[in-house]
Amino acid sequence: MKDLKGKVAAVTGAASGLGRAMALAFADEGMHVALADVSDPAEVVALVKAKGVNAFAARVDVSKAEEVEAFAQRVDKELGGAHLVCNNAGVSPLGAAWETSVDDWRWILGVNLWGVIHGVRSFVPRLMARGEGHVVNTASVAGIISPPGSGAYNVTKHAVVALSETLHHDLRERGSPVGVSVLCPAYVPTGIADSARNRPAGFAATPKSREMEAREAMLRKAVQSGRLTADDVAKAVVAAVKEERFYILTHPRIKGAIRARMEDILEDRPPTNPMASKGSNSGTGT
Ligand SMILES: NC(=O)c1ccc[n+]([C@@H]2O[C@H](COP(=O)([O-])OP(=O)(O)OC[C@H]3O[C@@H](n4cnc5c(N)ncnc54)[C@H](O)[C@@H]3O)[C@@H](O)[C@H]2O)c1
Repeated sequence: MKDLKGKVAAVTGAASGLGRAMALAFADEGMHVALADVSDPAEVVALVKAKGVNAFAARVDVSKAEEVEAFAQRVDKELGGAHLVCNNAGVSPLGAAWETSVDDWRWILGVNLWGVIHGVRSFVPRLMARGEGHVVNTASVAGIISPPGSGAYNVTKHAVVALSETLHHDLRERGSPVGVSVLCPAYVPTGIADSARNRPAGFAATPKSREMEAREAMLRKAVQSGRLTADDVAKAVVAAVKEERFYILTHPRIKGAIRARMEDILEDRPPTNPMASKGSNSGTGT
């Protein structure tokens, strides 16, 4: 979608971090923006509107199909329907697969995977009917490699990459011009290390082991010291949408770890630990 001016973007997880930065970057392009989040994105809506475009904020829990569908209907009604859809909301509880509680598995699968599934199910038929549009699903480098200590997160992000690749194929097979990109950043300073703030009532946190506490401290430090800002990532998304680029790999240093994984598979070797491989520990991400 080369020309974004006057078109409509719908962004989930828009109250903070990458979603907030994308909403602002799209407004800079002259797009009208619909913002969805479980937290109140009112502050971001005000900043977006100050750029001279139309915008509204909706309280949406992306893990709930009916709330995502109601959001899509509101985008139709108030902004004339979306052209660009960013399924971006995410959370990041940590832990080895066996020590992650069932509640944490349900929570992260609900937001990071079902949130994208609901976004695709509600918005893609509308984009296809419009005959124009683009979907950006936020995965992570943890959707291409598998860092230790974040089994549930990696599962959701690998699934988002698989869903996005398949969506691309299915749209091409149907002759639809709707584009797809999958965003795979490494560490970026945002609120992701504090995602427990969004844990829904009734979802008990996993009791923390010493290893989990160490992993959390490491994640917080890595996220805070990420060299690219959320604004840099948002600019990369704008460029990818305009250029119709599928993979948005914002941190090129990670390619060594991706190559190592691909070669491990092809050479029938056990997986290399991407956090241990030389020079890659600053490149892996949530
Ligand atoms: N920051 C990083 O280092 C990094 C790296 C790779 C991928 N990501 C991914 O980027 C995406 C955005 O995260 P971020 O880093 O901006 O973190 P963030 O915490 O700053 O923003 C995430 C937003 O999602 C919202 N959210 C959480 N649960 C929700 C729900 N059920 N429904 C609707 N909104 C919900 C939060 O309120 C928040 O505004 C996530 O999918 C995350 O996994 C982040």
